[in-house]
Amino acid sequence: MSFNKKTIRDINLDHKTVLLRADFNVPLNAAGKITDDFRIIQALPTIKYLLSKKTRLIICSHLGRPDGMVNSKFSLKPIANKLAKLLEPHKVTFVADSVGLDVQNAVSKLEPGQILLLENLRFHPEEEANDSKYAESLARLADIFVQDGFGVVHRAHASTSAITKYIPSVSGLLLEKEVDSITEAINQPKKPLCTVIGGAKISDKIDLINRFIEIADFVAVGGAMANTFLKASGIDIGHSIYDKGELSLARDIIHKAKQKSNQGSFVFFIPKDVVVAQKMNSLSKTRIVDWSTHVIADTINYPKSSPLKDYMVQKDEQILDIGPFSSAFIAGAIQLSGTVIWNGTLGVTEIASLHGPVGPFARGSEILIESMLGEFGHRPYSLVGGGDTVGYLEKRNLVDAFDHVSTGGGASLELMAGRKLPGVESLMNKERD
Ligand code: 3PG
Repeated sequence: MSFNKKTIRDINLDHKTVLLRADFNVPLNAAGKITDDFRIIQALPTIKYLLSKKTRLIICSHLGRPDGMVNSKFSLKPIANKLAKLLEPHKVTFVADSVGLDVQNAVSKLEPGQILLLENLRFHPEEEANDSKYAESLARLADIFVQDGFGVVHRAHASTSAITKYIPSVSGLLLEKEVDSITEAINQPKKPLCTVIGGAKISDKIDLINRFIEIADFVAVGGAMANTFLKASGIDIGHSIYDKGELSLARDIIHKAKQKSNQGSFVFFIPKDVVVAQKMNSLSKTRIVDWSTHVIADTINYPKSSPLKDYMVQKDEQILDIGPFSSAFIAGAIQLSGTVIWNGTLGVTEIASLHGPVGPFARGSEILIESMLGEFGHRPYSLVGGGDTVGYLEKRNLVDAFDHVSTGGGASLELMAGRKLPGVESLMNKERD
């Protein structure tokens, strides 16, 4: 275990007033209903631990990006209702601000074992500005500050950074688990290490890609960013989404990966076949294009010789998933791996299927999931990060099947890439403080 910060297990909490920073930045639909409660559920062990110590518990969080203005669309009220259901019989109240007289009054009425949820911290511009005065006002509400919002600790905001100057600050159980699981998988993985990256923009994940090339034995790329790599390799990708401004970045990465492959056994895998369609919807007719292997296309067309079309994405087509050969190749690599780290779906997983749970462009991600979970015999240690990826697993009801699924998007990316997280760095150290 690598976590060197004090946690709620290391301090006396009995009957204290505690301010807990959670990341309740969860998706809400137009009616204000929570559509994915993963982050709330993952916060429960810390909340329950704090309640078991008879604390008066104040919880704060951000939701969305309201740009420092009050906006009912981003209110935390629906989260208070959800917490009340999940934490029965504990009383949960909600206050429509995060600082000021109303908040102080609400805090003064709190009894041990009761919870007060504050309104969205980002309704105050001072939160994102890491403002000391605002942080001090938050700190004055409690005796102890607990940071458990892993998803936001890569930001230096008032509730992740400045606040720790004014109040003893320790980690919650989720933050500790996230940091331990991710750093262990990155720094001491059971080898061989297989990494799979999807997503739209290379530049969003450039540090992660570079880090994976350094530490992993196998790096596979999917999602829209794979289109940029394909285009950079001189392959025709029709009207697929790609990033023109990132072509030279893609070439640099391919060059770097080739240099590593030349030094020993290392594979940088860009899809060799893809699923294409003219339109991105459930009814669209799909086709497999197989420009490198010439196996799938030949088999489909057997006994006729396959037309050139099967080796090329047409002008009116777009790449929407990796193909069966590529999926099988990645699944094969996973069979040889001790650890698999996955960040970003390999195709468009948002399009619903007409038959069954797996969408028409989610088959690559599905085979990846099956191989990570041991469907083909071997089950490696599995770590999954990234908002979209986790959202997809939630929809498929598979979150609990993996060894660790991170609640962090940007935070898990930065931690995996080896960056320090301000919201963790600012907490009390285990030995010294
Ligand atoms: C997230 O969803 O990644 C976190 O809640 C952080 O949100 P932010 O990117 O708006 O800071």
